[in-house]
Amino acid sequence: MTCGALCIFPLDLPAQEVRRLHSLLSPEEQARAARFLAPLHRDRFAVAHGRLREILAARLAVAPDLLQFDSGEHGKPHLAGSEGRSGLQFNLSHSADHGLVGWAQGRHLGVDVELWRPLGDEEALVRRFFSPVENAAYAALPAAGRTQGFFECWTRKEAYIKAVGRGLGLPLDSFDVSFGAGREPALLRPSAQVPGDRSWALAAPPVGPGISVAVMLEGDACHVLPAH
Ligand SMILES: CC(C)(COP(=O)(O)OP(=O)(O)OC[C@H]1O[C@@H](n2cnc3c(N)ncnc32)[C@H](O)[C@@H]1OP(=O)(O)O)[C@@H](O)C(=O)NCCC(=O)NCCS
Repeated sequence: MTCGALCIFPLDLPAQEVRRLHSLLSPEEQARAARFLAPLHRDRFAVAHGRLREILAARLAVAPDLLQFDSGEHGKPHLAGSEGRSGLQFNLSHSADHGLVGWAQGRHLGVDVELWRPLGDEEALVRRFFSPVENAAYAALPAAGRTQGFFECWTRKEAYIKAVGRGLGLPLDSFDVSFGAGREPALLRPSAQVPGDRSWALAAPPVGPGISVAVMLEGDACHVLPAH
């Protein structure tokens, strides 16, 4: 039996499909969508949250517009109402025109997708946000592999802070992840600032050129299956 999966999907869809997905959102989600000034960003938000509802509803055999959400102390969304007792965990990420939803039964998780793009001074971001171990791993990469290494590290770090639910309240240099060609994705050092003794498994499935994806899943193993 499948106990979890990752689903990556386009956010730029024909207007009719955007309207259909928008109609699945709660009044609060529709109000959030309306706050985007650019129609492109409003529509991408509606598609991301509409698809999230459809993916979760299919697992739970309920109508997508009936799902209720709440969020934890640091803003991590979770299912509420009767579906909140199902044990189904999920996490959402978006980057430009790509959306990503991960779900798992009874295991917490965090996901992140990033399209590779110029970010100004990449090396300054590495110095500011990556841990000393990650700084050394980045410096050891050949120049041609640095942008890939940067986005691998970034997505893996985001997946961790999202899995533990702390968001950017967790110092990004308080834990280490592996990255770079030939290195197995792994959480090398958990943050001492995260209480509890949960173990975490990291996966970084290839999804195409110029895009990095990571999923951090509670437990000892993370075998990523495509959603169906
Ligand atoms: C939660 C956070 C970490 C996600 O940021 P992000 O990468 O910009 O956005 P993503 O698209 O991956 O994820 C956003 C989604 O995560 C979920 N989310 C929100 N808070 C969350 C939390 N505390 N934990 C887990 N998931 C959360 C929501 O579903 C959100 O979607 P929504 O905004 O459409 O409702 C955010 O706190 C943040 O500010 N990130 C900044 C990134 C950064 O500077 N990274 C440097 C790394 S080197």
